[in-house]
Amino acid sequence: MQPEPDNDLEAYGRAALADLASANDEKAIEAWYRKHLAPSGTMNQWRKRIGAQPAEERKAFGALVNTRANALKAAFDAQKQVVAERALSQSIQSQSVDVSLPGRPVFSGGYHPVTQIIREVERVFHEMGFLTFESPHVELDEFNFELLNMPADHPARDMQDTFYLSDRTVLRTHTSAGQVRAMRLYAPHPVRVILPGLCYRNENITLRSEIQFHQIEGLMVGKSVRLSDLKGVLLNFARRMFRRDQRIRTRGSYFPFTEPSVEVDIRCTLCNGAGCRVCKHSGWLELLGAGLVHPVVLANGGYDPREVRGIAFGMGIERMVMLLHGIDDIRHFFQNDLRFLQQFR
Ligand code: DAH
Repeated sequence: MQPEPDNDLEAYGRAALADLASANDEKAIEAWYRKHLAPSGTMNQWRKRIGAQPAEERKAFGALVNTRANALKAAFDAQKQVVAERALSQSIQSQSVDVSLPGRPVFSGGYHPVTQIIREVERVFHEMGFLTFESPHVELDEFNFELLNMPADHPARDMQDTFYLSDRTVLRTHTSAGQVRAMRLYAPHPVRVILPGLCYRNENITLRSEIQFHQIEGLMVGKSVRLSDLKGVLLNFARRMFRRDQRIRTRGSYFPFTEPSVEVDIRCTLCNGAGCRVCKHSGWLELLGAGLVHPVVLANGGYDPREVRGIAFGMGIERMVMLLHGIDDIRHFFQNDLRFLQQFR
């Protein structure tokens, strides 16, 4: 007896669909395709049987086979998509971010306390019309000493223990070394500059002294410059830097490159004059050295000392930072200990 091809086809189709429904991953689904729809698959066996049908049934049978094949292909495509979507959502879930977790702290850097104070000092002087002038750290003996009125045998040289790099070159011992460089750039015109930067001295490292430290130098030269300008500029600076009613005082002193020379003290920023450990109960703190630029230095800078006068001052920065923040050991500044530095962010 003839098999009942369309019944068989029906049964085969149902079985194949059931099979497909349980193909739950990519591998299973590809295997199902090879078994049923690939050129070597069962569906093609059915196609081959079309020609063997009696002529009057051939067309109808062919249509059945095609309908079945199309249905299987459509079911395959749909199942393939289901499986792909499930795989995608599984992989998203397994890699998902828990938005309720606390965030990782963002570590942000900050400026070194010395840099912060230098910028603050610069800002105050820039407002008074001073420009920042940079000069070399590796300096000629000439600019560091000679031209500042300290010839080779001058006893003042002993006050500054110098790192000599050669007979003629030193690591600058003070920012005053840039004074003559600035003057030579501007003379005979007026000049108003500050010179911030590192200085170096061959000292023992202790609580109070380091072999490197920062200074800010100030220099102002012009026809109408007078000693009272020095006091005005420094008082204005002290009041903007420390407190609005800050008091300062000057004491006579000696520097080879100024005449007259003074040292400037500020009323103790901690006790405001009442007397405390920091000011050693004097009520005053040394802030800087200053004076009228010595005529010899003006001449070395290219000015006619009969025509112009200059004021100059130089202050140590680390000391100022120590006062402002109550730091008792200068060595902290160069040790790069984050526990120290992070307090100033
Ligand atoms: N250069 C001096 C020092 O390092 C400080 C100083 C004193 C600078 C008097 C000046 C000044 O410009 O006029 O000790």
